[in-house]
Amino acid sequence: MSHPKFVYLNDRVVPWEEGRVHVASVGFRFGTGVFEGLRAYWNPEKEQMFVLQLAEHMQRLEYSQKFMRFDTMLPGPEVGGKILELLRANAFKKNVHIMSTVFVEGFGPPSTTGPIGLSILAAPRHDIPRTGSGCTAHISSWQRIPDTAMPMRVKCNANYQNGRLATLQAQADGYDTAILLNSRGKVAEGPGMCLFMIRDGKAVTPPVTSDILESITRKTVMTLCGRYLDMEVVERDIDRSEFAAADEAFFCGTAWEVTPLTSVDRLPVGDGEIGPVVRRLQDVFFGIATGTLDDHAEWRTPVYV
Ligand SMILES: Cc1ncc(COP(=O)(O)O)c(C=O)c1O
Repeated sequence: MSHPKFVYLNDRVVPWEEGRVHVASVGFRFGTGVFEGLRAYWNPEKEQMFVLQLAEHMQRLEYSQKFMRFDTMLPGPEVGGKILELLRANAFKKNVHIMSTVFVEGFGPPSTTGPIGLSILAAPRHDIPRTGSGCTAHISSWQRIPDTAMPMRVKCNANYQNGRLATLQAQADGYDTAILLNSRGKVAEGPGMCLFMIRDGKAVTPPVTSDILESITRKTVMTLCGRYLDMEVVERDIDRSEFAAADEAFFCGTAWEVTPLTSVDRLPVGDGEIGPVVRRLQDVFFGIATGTLDDHAEWRTPVYV
């Protein structure tokens, strides 16, 4: 398997082979870590790479550490600087996916709160055709974990077993992915992405109190709907039966970007084709992410100086 030359471990860039964590660490044994997945986009005309919404991701990383009661807090700006250092060390000139993880490196029971370690990985992202072709989903029989059990608002590694079960079930049943309902039986989100539907000329998305991650891309899409589509956004509960009544639907997230959702439980969303709202949102989203559109420069952090 090809892999990048360098990763970041604790306080320095190290060769890939040295990116190891002890099997006794609480992070390894119990998934006691918090993470942020980020994207950096390469712009060949400008010979520049931009990290999308670095500050927003680093702010959420701080919140996750605080919530998990880690001994020490790795400040967001410090981790952000290390991400840039790693990207430069690897000298990427491609779109990359970045995973920054703060984890309990110490040994002991699940309640251990330190010492804390940091790992950062960055690798060229896999191009998955679903952004262009759209994807199918079913309503999972796995329920989204409620805030009263394991808050999805916190990007804790252990939370992601819930979405993993849903994804594997969906794929075994012949769908691309899953939509999870929350404990109130309302639509929450996909395994690693939020969702919107377009109904009656409005963009509708579940509120942040629906057992979802407070997604940065979700917030971005809300801004883009107003600014570029002059479209009202409504945050409200969505019933599973509404997808068949919607004109369009799409997933959004750092990894999923803006991905059309063409059917749910094999019932087409709209006419089952990719609609004009999703297409327009994709245009502006990728334009802003890559810097081919100058707007929202505050969302782009240039990597190379
Ligand atoms: C559970 C979950 N929901 C939604 C998202 C989308 O969030 P963001 O737009 O901040 O990447 C993610 C992405 O990591 C996620 O893991």
